[in-house]
Amino acid sequence: MGDQKNKIDDETAVSYLTMEEVKTHNSSKSTWLVIHDKVYDVTKFLEEHPGGEEVLFEQAGGNATESFEDVGHSSDAREMLKQYFIGELDLADRRKENSKDVLITTSSSQSSWWTNWLIPAFAVGVVGLMYRFYLAETKTSS
Ligand code: HEM
Repeated sequence: MGDQKNKIDDETAVSYLTMEEVKTHNSSKSTWLVIHDKVYDVTKFLEEHPGGEEVLFEQAGGNATESFEDVGHSSDAREMLKQYFIGELDLADRRKENSKDVLITTSSSQSSWWTNWLIPAFAVGVVGLMYRFYLAETKTSS
């Protein structure tokens, strides 16, 4: 019973780390990475990484989610992540990372720009044709 309570305490004692703090850990002395809004201290893992330490250095102190996913790491690699976990990324910093969503919603306005322009252009063309017929009509009748 007592053990279980300790376990719950451990889980709720997750620390939140800001991007500002993560950025300072970008050297071989201390290397932190953010993957899926979680912060990992990979300092001791650098030499062991099968993909080499270079690629980890490139992402040091920053968000490595995309590069990590691009490689298509195995489930073993994902399991390994857990032992380097040191905290969650601060909630305020997560929103900035996910701001790409905004671009998707604004892209629809581009298609309406095209149709807004097309309808008046078509109307001008029709009026122009009617005017030419009108001129031809007045020439032949006089
Ligand atoms: C703590 C984070 C990471 C862990 C635990 C990890 C673990 C591993 C493991 C176990 C492998 C062997 C292949 C596999 O099992 O998928 C691997 C390969 C590799 N990793 Fe990572 N990795 C991490 C981060 C990264 C990052 C951020 C990058 C890219 C910038 C990267 C790039 C690579 C590459 C290029 C390979 C070689 C793939 C190949 O040779 O086919 N890894 N990694």
